[in-house]
Amino acid sequence: MTDIAPLRDFIRAMTRLADEGASETRWLTEGAALLRRLIANDAWLPEDCAQAGPRYRQYLLHCDPLERFCVVSFVWGPGQKTPVHNHTVWGLVGMLRGEEISTAMHPGAPMTMGEVDRLRPGEVVAVSPNLQDIHVVENAIPDAASISIHVYGGNIGAIARSVFDPATGAQKRFVSGYDNAVVPNLWDRSQEVRAA
Ligand SMILES: [Fe+2]
Repeated sequence: MTDIAPLRDFIRAMTRLADEGASETRWLTEGAALLRRLIANDAWLPEDCAQAGPRYRQYLLHCDPLERFCVVSFVWGPGQKTPVHNHTVWGLVGMLRGEEISTAMHPGAPMTMGEVDRLRPGEVVAVSPNLQDIHVVENAIPDAASISIHVYGGNIGAIARSVFDPATGAQKRFVSGYDNAVVPNLWDRSQEVRAA
């Protein structure tokens, strides 16, 4: 059984930031530092939330009860890629396993490519409407799954956002949802209590 304690500790720390009414700047600095610590260890992610599928998967790990932030495991199988999309809220992406390539896209007809970032395990990058909010993400590893842990400033799967046609720049309404119906149990602390 995986020890989920690092994820529980991360969620507690992020909840404290939310309770303090953290500004986006604090989320993207202090939140990023917390995420970096979480992904330094690769043993806590439940197997159920690490499975690739016929298209890229988005497993909700936790949503704040007040929808101030959420934590999602993204799993890309070989060759898998997102559509060009935006987020509308701040987001943090931390690479856990494998590698992914994020390509910034600028509005236009056709849209033009911006910065290309290759993320390696342990690295964290940010997205935000105040920075660069439109991109396309793909698995950079041709023969294995890649997994990144994302945090967003809202319940991302239930936020109305957009996908874009890169040839025309046309924008279409997009609500991503999640691929799992149940979230991991963070709260079975019985072993540590019994051992105390
Ligand atoms: Fe994204």
